[in-house]
Amino acid sequence: MAATLAVVLDRADRRPLGGQLADEIRRQVTDGRLAAGDRLPSSRALATELGVARAVTEVAYGQLVAEGWLEGRHGSGTFVSASAPAQAPPHRPRRRAPEARPLLRLDAGTPWIDPRYAALWRRAWRDVSTTRPPAGYDDPRGLPELRTEIAARLGRIRGLDCDPDDVLVTAGTTDGLRHLLGVLPPGPVTVDDPGYRAAVATVRLAGREVVDVPALGPPPDATTLATCAAAYVTPAHQHPLGPTMSGSARLALLDASRTSGALIIEDDYDSEFRYDVAPVPALASLDRTRVAYLGTASKAVAPSMRLGWLVPPQHLLDPLNQMRAITHDTASWPVQRAYLSLLRDGYVDKVVRSARRTYAERSTRVAKALAPYAQTTGPIAGMYATLELPRRQAEAAHQSARTKGYDVPLLADYCRSDTRHGLVIGFGGCTDAQLDEALGAIVRGLR
Ligand SMILES: Cc1ncc(COP(=O)(O)O)c(C=O)c1O
Repeated sequence: MAATLAVVLDRADRRPLGGQLADEIRRQVTDGRLAAGDRLPSSRALATELGVARAVTEVAYGQLVAEGWLEGRHGSGTFVSASAPAQAPPHRPRRRAPEARPLLRLDAGTPWIDPRYAALWRRAWRDVSTTRPPAGYDDPRGLPELRTEIAARLGRIRGLDCDPDDVLVTAGTTDGLRHLLGVLPPGPVTVDDPGYRAAVATVRLAGREVVDVPALGPPPDATTLATCAAAYVTPAHQHPLGPTMSGSARLALLDASRTSGALIIEDDYDSEFRYDVAPVPALASLDRTRVAYLGTASKAVAPSMRLGWLVPPQHLLDPLNQMRAITHDTASWPVQRAYLSLLRDGYVDKVVRSARRTYAERSTRVAKALAPYAQTTGPIAGMYATLELPRRQAEAAHQSARTKGYDVPLLADYCRSDTRHGLVIGFGGCTDAQLDEALGAIVRGLR
């Protein structure tokens, strides 16, 4: 009589059914449930019993016969081989190939968030879960209480004198930029070269041309701006080369804007992370009529929050509000609500203070490690250091870091008409040990 095979095949398992059946029969032979000489059900009967195609049982039997676990006796069926399991190759579970460690991208935009304040983070989200959301589409400008908090904070830390009704809550810098471009007159936008790639892409996606302005040269003048709708700048910390826009350059840019009529778009992405002195007040604080100010929660809290704010000149408020009311293109209510709690509970101030200390320490570590090879341009603020290098050295260092598991961006990737080379080393999204390992690999590449 044929032995009964108690087998359960799992259709959710990614292994083929024939392979699963063969594994199970091997297991039953090795643990003694099937003995040498036992007769197995016919492939047809077993297929019917298991509810599978006959090919499945035939494949399993064929494989086990080939391996010596089973033997077919002509006319009488399939049996557990007399020599099994002693002669049969010991079955080893198939090992998965070790997965390659995914590359850790040390990019300029990933912040370090102090985990010690996680309880405040959780409290903010509990608060969201116990608050009733608005029944319909809410105020297109954003939560009034949040706008009040943001306006007060901008006055305090950026010298920007604005009312809550001047603030529009956005889903981040690029969202705010996109909204602005939606209400500006037609025309190109100047962007530093090298410059912020997301800004370049956003301007182009809005169907506008990007005019390259050398990042370390003077700001665009009135003649250049005469044909442009706006000039996008990062005055607190030029992205990605690092310097702060000088006082005279700020005044010259404002003059050029007044003469030409082009708007200045100030992306104030990481001014809170200045290590040495208090951040220079926002450019918008010098003339709110010429500058649209963009801020973000991405650096202080998390890029994945997708939250930011826009303080446009007064004349753009109505068009922006009307556009946002029609499109419902506003920041998500739970995120706004959580950020309100994070601001009120002091979470944002705490993580910013703590990150600033960490960045200051890590920037020194980067500068020290790389000093023999090149001078880092800054950093005076933020979570990345830019290092200019000859092309071949930059590429060798980039490649060497990759072999250790780190993706360190090349400066050339931020350039359009400019041909600068080097590395942009982000040090927010890693541990100290990872940073040291990556720096070691970079240094080996530079040697
Ligand atoms: C220059 C610059 N602006 C803004 C941001 C943040 O953009 P968002 O608010 O869309 O996350 C970044 C992030 O890396 C940046 O580098």
